[in-house]
Amino acid sequence: MQFEPSMKLKRLPDQFFAGLVQQVKQMKDEGIDVINLGQGNPDLPAPAAVVEALQEAAEKPEHHKYSPFRGRKELKQAVADFYSREYGVTLDPESEVAVLFGAKTGLVEISECFLNEGDTALLPDPGYPDYWSGTALAGAETVNMPLREENHFLPDYNELNEETLDKAKLMFLNYPNNPTAATADITFFEETVNTAARHQICVVHDFAYGAIGYDGFRPPSFLQAEGAKEVGVEMYTLSKTYNMAGWRVAAAVGNPSVIEALNMIQDHLHVSLFGGIQEAAARALTMDQEPVWNLVRTYESRRNIFVEALREQGWEGEAPSGTFFVWLPVPQGYTSNTFADILLKNEHVAVASGRGFGEQGEGYIRVGLLNDEKHLREAAIRIARYFKSRE
Ligand SMILES: Cc1ncc(COP(=O)(O)O)c(C=O)c1O
Repeated sequence: MQFEPSMKLKRLPDQFFAGLVQQVKQMKDEGIDVINLGQGNPDLPAPAAVVEALQEAAEKPEHHKYSPFRGRKELKQAVADFYSREYGVTLDPESEVAVLFGAKTGLVEISECFLNEGDTALLPDPGYPDYWSGTALAGAETVNMPLREENHFLPDYNELNEETLDKAKLMFLNYPNNPTAATADITFFEETVNTAARHQICVVHDFAYGAIGYDGFRPPSFLQAEGAKEVGVEMYTLSKTYNMAGWRVAAAVGNPSVIEALNMIQDHLHVSLFGGIQEAAARALTMDQEPVWNLVRTYESRRNIFVEALREQGWEGEAPSGTFFVWLPVPQGYTSNTFADILLKNEHVAVASGRGFGEQGEGYIRVGLLNDEKHLREAAIRIARYFKSRE
């Protein structure tokens, strides 16, 4: 029998990365040595202290039972302590912190929590594809906020008309930004709080790359902007800061009514994460943060190697100030897809086509700095050839 999926499921867009993963796998199976810079999957291991914490926790029978529905107290307290230490933001661990199965899950859940069919959500374009997954499941309308290079890849709220802003219920933002690698400052977040407060929009700031800023730049938290807790939440994943992408652990922090709604939907969907993972996550957030600084230094050094190799070949773009991505305009005569395709087929370098992140991603490719320096340098040389040959 062939069962018919629900309308909800049919509304889901295709998983953007699935095709690329498949293509790379096929080439690797054929023995081709592809330099894969296409995804955002950290290549280095989680800190040893966190792995040890999980090993110790696995021995404890208390973790073999269901963990508390709304997450373990020690993890919520660790999240609050982390925000206080890193950003000077005060959080009540019980009412202002929700434990999530990774930010991806929280980002999809939040649309289910606040959007009815036909409601409007504001999404960054280009943007992380899962914002569209959540809004599609909820049956909401989406209005894209173009992120343009001339505006440092920040949305310009003046471009949105009053009617759209009044209708909008949710707004997704993400700085440091995937895919553009742009960063935001507090002034932009303050402007966001004002816009959201005026139009009663709930802001969801996805802070996945919060730890990754370069040249001494420390990316600010949305919650550092005055009044931010009144108008929204921030999602903080441990995936990138601690190389724990496979562990599936994150937190939402901020407005208590939003935290309550997330907890409510999770009461029905999940119970909570394995207690051992929660214990290890608490260790990550509260331990000596040296492994995080080392990781940022590693990415900064990779960024330098990659950008220097491009510049040696005559490229004149700016180096990114955060994330582990480089957002590169494609050479003349190519689209995002044709350039990504030619890099894969002719140069054996996998990158993400900018088009996969939205209409405004056309004309760019995204390179993930998730390989060693030797391979990154080699990839940059192969990519830069195309810029050179068009001069
Ligand atoms: C902007 C952004 N948000 C969220 C996520 C997913 O985070 P998590 O691993 O916690 O689901 C990613 C992962 O690539 C991301 O790039």
